[in-house]
Amino acid sequence: MSNYEQIYQRSLDDPEGFWAEAAEGIDWYRKWDRVLDDDNAPFYHWFSGGELNTCYNAVDRHVENGRGEQAAIIYDSPVTDQQRSISYRELQSQVASFAGLLHQYGIAKGDRVIIYMPMVPEAAVAMLACARLGAIHSVVFGGFAARELATRIDDTRPKIIVSASCGIEPNRVISYKPLLDQAIEFSAHKPDHCIILQRPQVVAEMNKGRDVDWITAVAKAEPADCVPVAATDPLYILYTSGTTGEPKGVVRDNGGHAVAMKWSMQHVYGVEPGDVYWTASDLGWVVGHSYIVYGPLLNGSTTIIFEGKPVGTPDPGTFWRIISEHKVGVMFTAPTAFRAIKKEDPDGVYIKKYDLTKFRTLFLAGERCDPDTLFWAQDQLQVPVIDNWWQTETGWAIAANCMGIEPLEVKPGSPTKVVPGYNVQVLDEQGAEVTGGEIGTIVLKLPMPPGTLMTLWNADQRYIDAYLSQYPGYYLTGDAGYKDEDDYLWIMSRIDDVINVAGHRLSTGGMEEVLAFHPEVAECAVFGVADTLKGELPLGLVVLKSGSEIGVQALRKELIALVRERIGPVAAFKLVTPVQRLPKTRSGKILRGTMKKIADGSAWKMPATIDDTAILDEVTEALAGLGYPKS
Ligand code: COA
Ligand code: AMP
Repeated sequence: MSNYEQIYQRSLDDPEGFWAEAAEGIDWYRKWDRVLDDDNAPFYHWFSGGELNTCYNAVDRHVENGRGEQAAIIYDSPVTDQQRSISYRELQSQVASFAGLLHQYGIAKGDRVIIYMPMVPEAAVAMLACARLGAIHSVVFGGFAARELATRIDDTRPKIIVSASCGIEPNRVISYKPLLDQAIEFSAHKPDHCIILQRPQVVAEMNKGRDVDWITAVAKAEPADCVPVAATDPLYILYTSGTTGEPKGVVRDNGGHAVAMKWSMQHVYGVEPGDVYWTASDLGWVVGHSYIVYGPLLNGSTTIIFEGKPVGTPDPGTFWRIISEHKVGVMFTAPTAFRAIKKEDPDGVYIKKYDLTKFRTLFLAGERCDPDTLFWAQDQLQVPVIDNWWQTETGWAIAANCMGIEPLEVKPGSPTKVVPGYNVQVLDEQGAEVTGGEIGTIVLKLPMPPGTLMTLWNADQRYIDAYLSQYPGYYLTGDAGYKDEDDYLWIMSRIDDVINVAGHRLSTGGMEEVLAFHPEVAECAVFGVADTLKGELPLGLVVLKSGSEIGVQALRKELIALVRERIGPVAAFKLVTPVQRLPKTRSGKILRGTMKKIADGSAWKMPATIDDTAILDEVTEALAGLGYPKS
């Protein structure tokens, strides 16, 4: 048996022994009573009875253990032309002071704090400060609109919202404060206070009595110490898209999460304490939570907070400049970032300008990694390029080529094999395992390993209904795919209405809800179409109410603006056109899958259940009007 196989098998045969050993990598105030607590199955708890503090493990202990002067965070912001290095000692002081400020404004263990921030180190400081107090943070991605923020405010009911005066996109400065004020206006729940980081690019207008200026207030705050919390207490809530417009609040615990993060840094990513590790993503996504903040800091590594884009800030050489200047050993990003670079610098001219000798591995995740992108990255960088598959719910990789265990042969298009701790199966509709390379629904046998979701915030039943009820005893990943004869996993598509736009997970159902809100729209369908840069783009077809006289151009403009206003620019919703009718099965189900195939130019069959086949001709014509399929 190979090293990987031995470790993998042990993780399944003796999960409690395996994870108890991994838990030695974390400092505990009190050791657990039970490694795996199944008393309340299917809600499993890891390390119950144990007590720890995630912030202590991510920051303070490294100062105590001699890493005080090592950089914890390097902030590199080409959009503001700034760089800043924050040592573990400085980070400890900043986090303790900010935790003191939160405490002064009433935050204690179990309270929720929403963080709506751009990619600045203060966002990580705010996350860690919550963890320090045992408060539960919920970071909301800056590219979401006020209404999306309002939904999250009503669901988490935060006492405090932490935000900044602005975020900086390459083409514009985005004032956050008006969005925040609007969200609070929309929401039924009102926070007691908002703590605002004033950035020099925009000075936010403060709401007297409610808003607190970060910089002046933190200077006067009494530093707060780490509060011991139960391993099973929530660390954070992170919302992700589901089938409907109502996002799901994934709840992560403290104990299992810390253990899984630390273990994965070394075993999946092959990163040691002291190494410089860079994830180019956003703190608002799970990749940012796990591998910009918690993973690298729990591991005593140096992390980079990058405020910029792979291209245009200022050129497609930014990634290579950062790798070379900060001596990055391992990098993690989404394939779309590499597609953007490849498009602008196909011959890698910018790559040759930098010394990349310290760089050893590139990890890609967040969407399917197309072999073209993988080959290009490998050829240009001359390092292993590792696809890894996971999702917000799991918090860390389900399948990967575990570089810290033993590199396995790469099969481009496959994220390699199942990571230790996970038991992945591919099932048919009846729940029987499919073999022989046939595509089925990918599920994870319960219990899942530490670090995976505990439940959905305030919605235990929704957690069961959405994930656990289709195949009792298994967690439904929402992905379809297969295992090949060598046990490599292949992730082919989603089985629900979730699409992946530039590595951002979005709900087409949510977009349909917005389109249906337009007064002229009777019915609509949104589905993902293939895009060479962003992987997928949403495309909407709308049926207008009878008698509607709105012009096509005006309609498009209004619908695009509506999605931007209600979901946010990140939806990248730009393709929409009216149709006379939508194709449906006799039972009334809209044939989104068939329309997607027509738009992608893939082979498709006339569904036997369709009630009028001429509708598909009309749809084909409408799609052609939008330029689909692409030639
Ligand atoms: N705050 C406000 N607006 C934001 C935002 C933020 N934090 N992030 C993105 N947006 C806006 C963008 O400005 C853009 O608006 P526009 O329509 O006015 O141009 C829109 O949302 C779409 O953004 P994005 O998806 O980033 O597209 P882009 O065309 O600006 O850039 C890429 C394309 C490929 C360069 C970019 O998507 C990228 O870097 N992707 C990396 C993927 C990634 O990090 N994924 C995270 C999961 S690992
Ligand atoms: P998110 O929760 O935003 O991380 O999105 C998770 C979803 O993105 C998964 O369920 C997959 O559909 C897709 N995904 C993430 N990583 C990969 C990958 N490496 N290969 C294929 N699909 C992926």
